[in-house]
Amino acid sequence: MTRELRLNAFAMNCVGHQSQGLWRHPRDKSPNYKHTDHWVELAKLLERGKFDALFLADVVGVYDVYGGSADTAVREAVQVPTNDPLLIIPPMAQATQHLSYAATVNLSHEPPLPFARRMSTLDHMTDGRIGWNIVTGYLDSGAKGAGAGKQVAHDIRYDIAEEFMDIQYGFWEGSWEDDALRCDREAGVFADPAKVHRVVHDGEYFRVNGVHLCEPSPQRTPVLYQAGSSSKGTGFAARHAECVFVGGNDNSKMAADVAKLRALAVEAGRDASDILVFALATVITAATDEEAEAKFEDYRQYVSTSGALALMGGWTGIDFSKPELVTATASTSNAIAGAAAAFTAGGPGEHRDVDSIARSVALGGGGPLLVGGPKRIADQLEAWAEAADLDGFNLAYAVMPETFVDVVEHLVPELQRRGLMKKDYAPGTYREKLFGRGPRLSDNHPAAARRRGSGRQSSAQAPVTT
Ligand SMILES: Cc1cc2nc3c(=O)[nH]c(=O)nc-3n(C[C@H](O)[C@H](O)[C@H](O)COP(=O)(O)O)c2cc1C
Repeated sequence: MTRELRLNAFAMNCVGHQSQGLWRHPRDKSPNYKHTDHWVELAKLLERGKFDALFLADVVGVYDVYGGSADTAVREAVQVPTNDPLLIIPPMAQATQHLSYAATVNLSHEPPLPFARRMSTLDHMTDGRIGWNIVTGYLDSGAKGAGAGKQVAHDIRYDIAEEFMDIQYGFWEGSWEDDALRCDREAGVFADPAKVHRVVHDGEYFRVNGVHLCEPSPQRTPVLYQAGSSSKGTGFAARHAECVFVGGNDNSKMAADVAKLRALAVEAGRDASDILVFALATVITAATDEEAEAKFEDYRQYVSTSGALALMGGWTGIDFSKPELVTATASTSNAIAGAAAAFTAGGPGEHRDVDSIARSVALGGGGPLLVGGPKRIADQLEAWAEAADLDGFNLAYAVMPETFVDVVEHLVPELQRRGLMKKDYAPGTYREKLFGRGPRLSDNHPAAARRRGSGRQSSAQAPVTT
């Protein structure tokens, strides 16, 4: 296999993140999440290891499904407290030159114009090293806390997202033409009003009439990520996403899902290779297999099964403190369809027992957990990427930042030796680094339809510039 594998570090602006209870490990530094230095040091480490991006998860809301309350989540720091993912990006960007930043923002709680401005601001401030993971939320507590009353039904969330995207493309791609900026001191003309346009949208869920507040940023639209795997979610990703984040332990199912996603992208007028697919994995590595296994045994002492069930409760909408109701609630879940379906896959009445769920989720959040020295892990990643047609991995951590230090020191050199990972960064924005073209979205992406005037020529085939 010759395809380059891309690595993202998967983290969240909180204590812990995917591996519940591990914040108690004496070497875990994730409780420092509230300090700027913590993030800046992580970013510098990842750039040293030629990671493509830091991928920041986010949730608006607390995990209060387990036992009908947020007590377990609060007591055990299950993704709460959690700070804003976007605000930590500028200091990291300033301390790095090439690392990109893909941040999760739940569009359900974002007014279109202020959100468009925040992302454009970040694209400016990072010199085009920004991506957005488009999510619509899965926690009822988040919807209530944000003032929406209750969580909107699963499929409707995607309908709302379609409209939201169209508005964002209007702001990012169409509101300001490329040559709207004159910056003519003599004439006293900073921008040409004839080349700055209103976005007018009168839809089912939004009414917008406004001008984007930002001048065109390097990428205009940030690199678009998506992680939904339901049929609505896959259709949405096929139309909009440039990168898709997939989870799960079943390689053949993942391969089928990826093939379907790429086929749907082609049906939508895009190329199969216009979408890069990243799989979730947690890698525990060291210089040798034996050392990595010893590390894993050490980490295992700190897992919290109650924390894992609280996390899984939020993802699925299933209260695992009531095992007898797992199947019934899974079938009516309004949370992450794929996660909930995993509990009814065996047919009516069949589900995995709660203990096995807790054990499988506690380290790595239910995604694949790979333990071994660099050769073993590189073999596994290579075979997996080949089998499921993957472009890269989003690597979660068990102990922060030790997991990433180990990957940088042990795994990355082995991947580079095999020609599976770059030894240096490509020039340009995030989109250019990922696709070798840009910095704007391709002309076959739906966003291109919103371009106006000179912006129509800002094709994705423009040469990469340093
Ligand atoms: C690996 C993975 C990571 C995700 N990370 C987040 C996240 O950080 N925040 C969030 O709100 N949703 C997250 N999601 C949820 C998805 O964005 C999506 O809303 C969810 O999968 C529901 O869509 P679906 O039912 O179509 O799968 C994640 C999903 C997966 C599979």
